[in-house]
Amino acid sequence: MEIAIVGSGYVGLVAAAAFAEIGHQVICVDNDAAKVAALSRGESLIHERFLPELLARHRGQRLRFTTSIGEAVRASDVIFIAVGTPTDETGKADLSTVEQVVRAIARELRGATREKKIIVEKSTVPVGTSRWISRVMLEAGARTDLFDVVCNPEFLREGCAVTDFLYPHRIVAGGSAESCERLREIYAPIVDGSYAEREDAVPIPDGATTPASFIATSAESAEVIKNASNAFLAMKISFINAVANVCEAVGADVEQVREGVGSDARIGNEFLRPGLGYGGSCFPKDLVAFRSTAADAGYDFRLLEEVIRINAHQREMFLRKVHDALWTLKGKRLAVLGLAFKGGTDDVRESPAIAFIRMLLREGASVAAFDPAAAANARALFSKDEITICDDLYDTADSADALLILTDWEEFGQLDFDRLRAVMKQAVLIDGRNMYEPEFVVQAGFAYYSIGRASHPRAKAASEVDRAA
Ligand code: UGA
Repeated sequence: MEIAIVGSGYVGLVAAAAFAEIGHQVICVDNDAAKVAALSRGESLIHERFLPELLARHRGQRLRFTTSIGEAVRASDVIFIAVGTPTDETGKADLSTVEQVVRAIARELRGATREKKIIVEKSTVPVGTSRWISRVMLEAGARTDLFDVVCNPEFLREGCAVTDFLYPHRIVAGGSAESCERLREIYAPIVDGSYAEREDAVPIPDGATTPASFIATSAESAEVIKNASNAFLAMKISFINAVANVCEAVGADVEQVREGVGSDARIGNEFLRPGLGYGGSCFPKDLVAFRSTAADAGYDFRLLEEVIRINAHQREMFLRKVHDALWTLKGKRLAVLGLAFKGGTDDVRESPAIAFIRMLLREGASVAAFDPAAAANARALFSKDEITICDDLYDTADSADALLILTDWEEFGQLDFDRLRAVMKQAVLIDGRNMYEPEFVVQAGFAYYSIGRASHPRAKAASEVDRAA
């Protein structure tokens, strides 16, 4: 099928590459000419596993890029809208870009006599957006028999977006039966499992269920499914963070509790990792927007308010921990590992690590930070002398009073403690993502503080560590 994707952000670009991968002709539109030029040259622009490979495989063949929405609409049967929907100052999703795209599509359809086009709402939007899109299309002069609107929410996670797209748990389509069926055809290789059987398929990740189920609903239900799914996942994270605080207070270990609670299949152990709280371009924004949608509809969804409050409070709790370890922070040198909002991505939007660094700076600490992928994006958020961003992980630790892990990059779980101890002023590790077993860190000669577990304030002397080794 001929598919247009409007917007080449995380969702748009991954969808474009993945639709090409399952056999469609895809034209991806963005109004940023520099971005389109870079993508056409073969750059992938975002740090996303398997994306460079898919772009290289399909660019110039089944996948092309343009700045012309008109060209894309004319060439396609199905048009996916995957543009940004940031939160405005009132907490609502700003849908002005979505509206501009819809009007541009309508302009192309005016006077057209060709076959019906399907407009697919892929961006995360408030409930009711599908209806608004239809209304604006009609107002803008598009003939009712020449378009239909379907909501097809995206559930991919940054960092594993390509495999989430190709091996999803489910695909949800909300709209008329006829258009939902067209969407099922588009996703056929994923829904019938034939993609997974291809020799050149992107490898199936552990725990993936294939084939994916296909769930057809009303537009409103699909919109609520997206909002409620993110809200539920964020709620699980806030829940375990609240439990972590109880664990600390009563002398329990949240990692043991997590295993015990999460192994009940009704609860599940995913999204129960305690830490500095959730961030990113989705959960913080979507929770505020969902609460606002509910309020507009007359329902006071206070549970969501509490989820948001616990998430913010988690950083305060972690700051207390840093104080427990170091007492005052003014003039202290802190080595920070992690700037991205989670491991596996270069995205720093609403990153708990960035917010926490700002808290440390306000207390008068100096910060040297490292991130395997997000350094460039993070540099743009700080003024020149505010923090030092190092290219080498071990450079951050030079003369540091403590090492803080703020993002769960896998490589932060394999630190060379001897090397760190040799350059740090004090052997103190404050772990905001529970990357280590406390016993292991203590044996390595570090004082260790983590989330929801007992603190180990006294670092072993070097001679004791050597003896243990
Ligand atoms: C999230 C959802 O997981 C996707 O299903 C959804 O499609 C996406 O939002 C979206 O709406 O576009 P994403 O924001 O990429 O995906 O990342 P997650 O893996 O969900 O992580 C979000 C935040 O929660 C991160 O800061 C992460 O560190 C934190 N997190 C996650 C925890 O603190 N604990 C956990 O157990 C899991």
